Amino acid sequence: MQEELARIKEEAERDLRHAANLQEVEAWRIKYLGKKGLLTRVLRGMGNLPPEQRPQVGRLANELRAWLESELARRHEALRAVEREKEITSGAIDVTLPGRPLPRGRCHPLTQVLEETVRIFVQMGFAVAEGPEVELDYYNFEALNIPKDHPARDMQDSFYIDDEVLLRTHTSPVQIRVMEQTAPRVPVRIIAPGKVYRRDDDATHAPMFHQIEGLLVDRGISFAHLKGTLQAFVEQMFGANRRMRFRPSYFPFTEPSAEVDISCVVCGGVGCRVCGQTGWLEILGSGMVHPRVLAMAGYDPQEVSGFAFGMGVERVAMLKYGIDDLRLFYANDLRFLGQF
Ligand code: FA5
Ligand code: MG
Repeated sequence: MQEELARIKEEAERDLRHAANLQEVEAWRIKYLGKKGLLTRVLRGMGNLPPEQRPQVGRLANELRAWLESELARRHEALRAVEREKEITSGAIDVTLPGRPLPRGRCHPLTQVLEETVRIFVQMGFAVAEGPEVELDYYNFEALNIPKDHPARDMQDSFYIDDEVLLRTHTSPVQIRVMEQTAPRVPVRIIAPGKVYRRDDDATHAPMFHQIEGLLVDRGISFAHLKGTLQAFVEQMFGANRRMRFRPSYFPFTEPSAEVDISCVVCGGVGCRVCGQTGWLEILGSGMVHPRVLAMAGYDPQEVSGFAFGMGVERVAMLKYGIDDLRLFYANDLRFLGQF
């Protein structure tokens, strides 16, 4: 049997030298390594050997298999190289054609606007903080002075996980989480970007959208600081000529409260579907942090005061680029996304 193995090897070596193309190499593989090939036949015959010879022959047979396989791979590679060379020189492949360019990726327009917003506030001395998207009722509402049966909850139609846990409806809970960690030290100066969720769905309201929360707490902070900070942001984001207005509003966690509108780019301020015929589009809610919120988070409202705001990133992007439907950001149409 050992002789037979040696003979197979000799024959295989000779045959392979004569295999002139890939088909012949394949025929060679079937002849020696195939299911009904010569090597398999030897292995089948091992049952007839006296038991003491089997390990020795088994080892030789395995060596032969390894050798056959490596010869096959080598020959295969050599023939493929020859064939490729032939393709190239025969002109079947035009090697002078320019390569196919890979499309260049870039950040989503919302990511670009979010990053630019963060950059502007970081430059003014704010640090970035983050909080969970699955949030406790306590942080999302309760600690923001919105008790269980408060009507302000209705304005933020919400996705609940259970009675005490929900997808956060705004980034304001990060205010509380940060103040709890920092109190009673000042200053607190953070922005908190992230995703928020509400049961909303129209041209200016998405069920998942992005906010950037801002919070500043220190001694002697007034509404003028809020106004100056937001004015500086609007000038850097939109340029000096875009109009901005503060509109009195109500939030349970700020007093006084204001919403900030930017003149509508889509209609130039005369009124359209996007701005609800008002000529203005709201980008954020803001105000002076309510004394009760400061106290709940561990600050003495007699000692310190603060301002806060919560900005809608999609709205800022719509106004920056003149986009009339925020759902375009989420449709993943490259003809749209490729423009930014
Ligand atoms: C709030 O969410 C408050 N937490 C803001 C705030 C923070 C007030 C700190 C005071 C102090 P409001 O519900 O207005 O407020 O939302 C803030 C901004 O998010 C809006 O001005 C708007 O720009 C954006 N926004 C609200 N709902 C949606 C939505 N469904 N899709 C896209 N943007 C939205
Ligand atoms: Mg609002």
